[in-house]
Amino acid sequence: MILVLHGPNLNLLGRREPEIYGTLTFEELEEKLETWGSELGIGVVSRQSNHEGQLVEWIQRAEEEGFRGMVLNPGALTHYSYALLDAIRAQPLPVVEVHLSNLYAREPFRAHSVTAPAARGVISGLGPLGYRYAIEYLLALTS
Ligand code: DQA
Repeated sequence: MILVLHGPNLNLLGRREPEIYGTLTFEELEEKLETWGSELGIGVVSRQSNHEGQLVEWIQRAEEEGFRGMVLNPGALTHYSYALLDAIRAQPLPVVEVHLSNLYAREPFRAHSVTAPAARGVISGLGPLGYRYAIEYLLALTS
């Protein structure tokens, strides 16, 4: 099983700045994640929170919950959450950081991720497909 975590404001996908994040809603993204999981033969569990502490707790518990890897879009927490950085480092599962938008083509503060150093890698700017590629990578890495 792969755990996909979505941070603050990602529940508003489809309605939130569609020129940047597209028109796919969060519910539609979750359906896609489930479809991709069944195509790839792996269970995908998707969770979203607007709260840093909740994300930290999910990251801390992922291994004991039986996940083999995580895909993480920390939203704006990407740019300042040392708590998420530490949480990723404090557990053994591989994490791929995913961003729908291209962080390097936007405001300068978005070009820096404080969480990325703890991730295996980062996918940025490929829209929802970035999640699929991240799942495929984690599957290849852990099988
Ligand atoms: C985001 C990029 C972040 O800078 C932003 O705060 C988000 C979404 C993305 O998926 O492109 O909330 O992580």
